[in-house]
Amino acid sequence: MAATVQSKGSGGGAPPSYVKTPASWFIVSLPVDRRLARYDIAGSLAHVEMLAAVGILSKGEAELLGKGLRGVYEEIASGRFVWREDLEDVHTNIEVALTERLGSLGAKLHTARSRNDQIALDERLFVREAIVSVRQGILGLELALLDLAEAHADAPMPGYTHLQRAQPVTVGHHLLAHVWPLIRDDLRLADGFGRANVSPLGAGALAGSTLPIDPAISARILGFAGPFENSIDAVGDRDHFVEFVFDLSLLAVHLSSIAEEIVVWASQEFGFLRPTQALGSGSSLMPQKRNPDVAELVRGKTGRIVGDLVSLLTTLKGLPLGYNRDLQEDKAPVFDAVDQVLATLHALTTAVSTLEFDEARLLKAASDPRLLATDLAEYLVAKGVAFREAHEIVSRYLAGDGPLDPKSLRDADSRFGDDVADLLDVRTSLSRRNTPGGPSPKAVRAQLVRAHDAVGLQRYSLSKHAECVELVDSLLKGEPR
Ligand code: ARG
Repeated sequence: MAATVQSKGSGGGAPPSYVKTPASWFIVSLPVDRRLARYDIAGSLAHVEMLAAVGILSKGEAELLGKGLRGVYEEIASGRFVWREDLEDVHTNIEVALTERLGSLGAKLHTARSRNDQIALDERLFVREAIVSVRQGILGLELALLDLAEAHADAPMPGYTHLQRAQPVTVGHHLLAHVWPLIRDDLRLADGFGRANVSPLGAGALAGSTLPIDPAISARILGFAGPFENSIDAVGDRDHFVEFVFDLSLLAVHLSSIAEEIVVWASQEFGFLRPTQALGSGSSLMPQKRNPDVAELVRGKTGRIVGDLVSLLTTLKGLPLGYNRDLQEDKAPVFDAVDQVLATLHALTTAVSTLEFDEARLLKAASDPRLLATDLAEYLVAKGVAFREAHEIVSRYLAGDGPLDPKSLRDADSRFGDDVADLLDVRTSLSRRNTPGGPSPKAVRAQLVRAHDAVGLQRYSLSKHAECVELVDSLLKGEPR
C-alpha cells in the first residue's frame, strides 16, 4: 500500500525533509488525523497570537499568518483542499499549504512548537467538543425517557429480579431507573471535561523552548482552564482519551440495558410494547415479523465500543514518558467510539420517543397475586410476627394451589384479618410502597421532580462547556473577541 501522491492543487511543494523516508506508507497518519484539521488550525491561530504577544512575531506577521491560516481552513471546510499523503499528517499538510500561500513567513508558524505538543493540543480540543456532543445526545435521551415516565407514572407493571416477576412497580419508576445512570454518565463526562481542558501547547517536543513563549496566553485564547504543569507529561498524557472512552463504554453498557429491555418487552412472550416501525424493519422471509433491529444494534454496538477502550489502554501500556510514535494509534479507537455512541444515542432516542406501552397487558402481568407475597409477610410483621416467621407462613401458604383470598388466608393464619383484602389489589399495594425512592405513583412524581432538577443542572453545566468549545469556531471565523 504505497502512499498516494495526490495532484498538485494547493499542495505542490516538495515534502519537507523531516517527512521523507521509504517507510512513509507505514508512518502516514493523514487518513485518520485529517479529521483534526479544524482544531489544528485553531491551535495554530492561538499559537501565532501568543508569538506576537511575546514579541517573537511582529503584529503584521501575525495578521498575515492568521489570514493565511483562515484561508487554508476555508479550503478544507469547503472540500477544495487537496490533501497529500506524501506530507504524512494533518499538521504538515496545513503548514505546507500555508507556506505556499505566504512564502518564508509561513515557515515561521512552527516557531517554538513541535508536532508533539501540536497533536496533544488537537486531541484535547477534539475531546472537549466530543464531550459536548455526547452530553447533548444524553440530554435528548433523558428527556425522551422522562416524557415517557411521566406519561406512565401510575401504570403498574411487574418488577423483576433474575428476570423473574418479583414485586409490582410502576412503568414510570422502571423508566426512571434508566434515567439515573444516564445522569451519572453525564456527570462523569462533565468531570472529565475539566481534566481534558488543559492546554499542552508550549511543551514543544518535550522540553519547552529557549524562546520567551507564554503557554498561558495560547491556553486562554482557546478557552482552556490553563496551561500544562510539566512539559514531558503534557506531550505524553492521554488520560483524557482513556477517561472519555471509558465514559463512552459505560454509557454504551447502560444503553445496551435499555435496548435489551426493549427487545424483551417487544417479544410476543412479554407483549409489553406494541410493535412500531421506528423500532426496526420486517423480515424478508416471514411476513408476520416486526423485529426490534434498532434496539438489537444498540445492544450489539457495545462490544465494539468496549473493544475501543481495550485497544487504547493496550496501546498506552508500558510506554516510556514523553512522546512515542505508538501514540499515533490513539485516535482511531477514540473516533470510532464517539461516532458509534453518537449514532447509538440518536437512534435509541428516536426509538424511545415512539414506544407504545400496552398498559392493559402490563396491568395483567402486575396483577399476578404472587407478586404480593412480600406485602402479605409485611402485613404479619405489622401485627408483631417476626419477619422470618412471616416469610415462612406466606411461602408455605403459596406452595398450595388454592385461591388467594382473605378467607383462605385466615384459614392459614388467624392473624390475617378482613383488611387483608385491600392488600390483594395491585394498585393498593403500589400506593403503599411509598418509601423514599420507591415505586408508588406519589413517590414517582417526587422522583420525577428531582430528575428534572438534575437534568436542569446538567443543562447549565453543558451550556458552560459549549461556550468554551465555541471559541474554536469563533477563532476560525476571525470573530472579534
Ligand atoms: N502523527 C503523530 C501522532 O498522531 C503526530 C505527532 C508526530 N510527532 C512526531 N515526532 N513524529 O501522534
